[in-house]
Amino acid sequence: MNAQYGRDAAARAADVIRRKAGVQEPVIGIVLGSGLGGLAGEIDDSTHIPFREIPGFPTVTVVGHAGALVVGKLAGKNVVALAGRFHMYEGHPPQLAAFPVRVMHALGARTYFASNAAGGIRRDLDAGDLMIIDDHLNLTGVNPLTGPVEEGDERFPDMSAAYDEELRHLLKACAKKLDLPVKEGVYAWLPGPSFETKAEVRMLEKLGADAVGMSTVPEVIVARAMGMRVAGMSCIANAASGIGGTPVLHSDVLEVTERAALGFQALVREFVGALPAK
Ligand code: HPA
Repeated sequence: MNAQYGRDAAARAADVIRRKAGVQEPVIGIVLGSGLGGLAGEIDDSTHIPFREIPGFPTVTVVGHAGALVVGKLAGKNVVALAGRFHMYEGHPPQLAAFPVRVMHALGARTYFASNAAGGIRRDLDAGDLMIIDDHLNLTGVNPLTGPVEEGDERFPDMSAAYDEELRHLLKACAKKLDLPVKEGVYAWLPGPSFETKAEVRMLEKLGADAVGMSTVPEVIVARAMGMRVAGMSCIANAASGIGGTPVLHSDVLEVTERAALGFQALVREFVGALPAK
């Protein structure tokens, strides 16, 4: 483990956040992916802490990622949410990509909710669809747990049920209640930042990927190593290269996810409301 982004650094960041926001133990930590940051604005009694004020957090560079940690209440529950995240394609190590989840854990969150924008590979996944992540493929060849084991981490975390079955059922039940269509599938993590070639998309399809993106997996691996329960959701922003017949543009990714964000926000609010209080 890169100690710079380990447990002690997370505890220091959590101290600063608690001092600024007087945080109550969050029921859940949520990372808001590209175009999905609007949920941060729905958090009640909120304190927004820019990334630059949090020790260990670098400044965010990606368009569509606001770069603030937000604490407050959603559906009456204490939450901590990250509008923006750190990606490997920015030159960050995977340990930094996962660092905010260590901070959420240090604040007391024991459930982690990941969200992202992704390219749809499976033919029934259309732009604007929400996909509950039921499993992932780590195709980057890197792992955020590489190195000395952090105190409290599982050295060899089981990943056979990385995305908690009960939480997936709860998400589906909440979607049904809201009459919101949701799909389910496998998310493949590639490093980016270039989008996939057509041949890569054909390969991903053969490997069992339903959607592809450039984030989420390092956070989920670290969350599992710390024993957190994990749920994840992809907003399908576009058909992955070669399926749609049109080029993939980051501006389109943002536009589509921002349109799908209302359904996403309603679903996450319902889901958080249904979680047991701490
Ligand atoms: N590929 C990889 N990541 C993405 C895509 C894509 O097509 N769309 C949004 N994020």
